[in-house]
Amino acid sequence: MDEHSAVGQAVAFVRQFHQEQPGGGDAAPRVRQVLAEIERTGTYEHTAAELAFGARVAWRNAARCIGRLYWRSLVVRDLRHVGGAEAIAEECFEHLRIATNGGRIRPVITVFAPDRPGIPAPRIVNSQLVRYAGHRREDGGGWVGDPATGELTSTARGLGWKGGQEPFEVLPLLVQERPGGPSQWFEVPEDASLEVPLTHPEFSWFAELGLRWYAVPAISDMTLEIGGVRYPAAPFNGWYMGTEIGARNLADAERYDQLGEVARRLGLDTSSERTLWRDRALVELNIAVLHSFQEAGVTMADHHTESERFLRHIAQETRLGRPTPADWSWIVPPVSGGLTPVYHRYYDPVDPQARPAFVPRTP
Ligand code: ARG
Repeated sequence: MDEHSAVGQAVAFVRQFHQEQPGGGDAAPRVRQVLAEIERTGTYEHTAAELAFGARVAWRNAARCIGRLYWRSLVVRDLRHVGGAEAIAEECFEHLRIATNGGRIRPVITVFAPDRPGIPAPRIVNSQLVRYAGHRREDGGGWVGDPATGELTSTARGLGWKGGQEPFEVLPLLVQERPGGPSQWFEVPEDASLEVPLTHPEFSWFAELGLRWYAVPAISDMTLEIGGVRYPAAPFNGWYMGTEIGARNLADAERYDQLGEVARRLGLDTSSERTLWRDRALVELNIAVLHSFQEAGVTMADHHTESERFLRHIAQETRLGRPTPADWSWIVPPVSGGLTPVYHRYYDPVDPQARPAFVPRTP
């Protein structure tokens, strides 16, 4: 049997499910049932337990994720029966509320309908459930907001959304009932997107920069693939590690590009790279991010702690006889890499065929 065929994937997954569950019992009867169902309908339906297991293992297999220690705790919302753009949007907002949990962020995945032969499932167009709009200034002088969402922002405006004038404006959620079909847009309700205004523990001027970020990073443009079944609408979230915001989203020249302004306010000598003004500004920006989330009571990891957790995860998996494939260039944090233990080693090789997995979405 070709282990990469739909049938091969299904059988491999059902076997893995029974093998890994304590007291999972004999896989054979379920394998026969699944094969018969595929024969009859061209696909098969996961049980709720298989779906939850598959989603958690997809996280465990995510080679770029440093936060995998808690993969077993993923809250799986089985919403395969929910259809219609509006209901999907409503449940995405409910996802955000459950994940936000008053600031004590919970890792959650909401699984909507899978693709079926001849019946592709709905898609969420946004790359994350919450993201800030971005568009080029009329006068051509740079960007308002997040340049990373330029395309989505113009799409949303083309559909009649009126926002996008402010640097931190939450985009509406765009849902397609048919892939490539028309998108419907839904404003994210205020009570569904907790945000944290950024302040610095020592510098009162920092608040004047008007920077902020949202609490829940919820990826919505990856397909969850389990046992040959593809779930294209399956938004999932963990909590933030500070550097994602402080050393990338707000710092990258291609994003909010704030280091020059922070350095200026700090009074740093920016006349030469050798003064390391960028590095000093970067550290203060990251201090502000961690400080502000802490003050707001919103879960956030620092890169030292999260690195140490990841090595604990690897040790735990090793004891269970499993490898932990990891992508060094994604695991090592974008500041102070060499100060974290994840820098000083290599990882098990990544197998792009590993399943269950979150895979880049195909149309
Ligand atoms: N890096 C992305 C962002 O800044 C989020 C990726 C997922 N991150 C996470 N902590 N689960 O929005």
